[in-house]
Amino acid sequence: MRDPRRVAILISGRGSNMRALVEQAAGYEVVLIASNKPHAAGLDWARARGLPTWAWDSKGVDKEQWDRALAEALEDHGIGTMALAGFMRILSPWFIAQWRGRIVNIHPSLLPKYRGLDTHQRAIDAGDAVSGCSVHLVTEDLDAGDVLGSAEVPILPGDTAATLEQRVLAAEHALYPRILSEFVKQ
Ligand code: GRF
Repeated sequence: MRDPRRVAILISGRGSNMRALVEQAAGYEVVLIASNKPHAAGLDWARARGLPTWAWDSKGVDKEQWDRALAEALEDHGIGTMALAGFMRILSPWFIAQWRGRIVNIHPSLLPKYRGLDTHQRAIDAGDAVSGCSVHLVTEDLDAGDVLGSAEVPILPGDTAATLEQRVLAAEHALYPRILSEFVKQ
């Protein structure tokens, strides 16, 4: 039985958005942290907090086989919503079809601008005055699902990709828990 308020967070790295989602959880419960990188720093934080984790190195593993194993872990935990947070892997069409409308992601740009990687440098190079982050539904097309909410931050003179990333990250940590709380009510 899938309960939308039971959330799994998928990470591949440091997991700062995962921490924000756990610490600001309201209206949802984070019941599983899953990763395709067994050494992801965020997993250590989750374990130290006593959160259940699931990890399997996806390197060299057949894509659908990996996705099927993840799907099993999700069903075991009664997950109803998945929140991608720095999850650097494209899920198979099979998986997306199983979970259509129940997977969200945070992206460091004001979508539909700058899908994909290097968003901060691309925004600076374009001379934009404003950047930000977006929470969107995950579909088969990269960073192209409906936008559920976004937050703007200014791009300041002298900004580098690194300084802009820090400012956008702070906005991500405020935006993502708020949007997820609203989303799980649907
Ligand atoms: C963030 O920039 C997020 O927008 C993008 O990946 C990065 C994840 O950072 N999807 P963290 O692992 O949450 O710190």
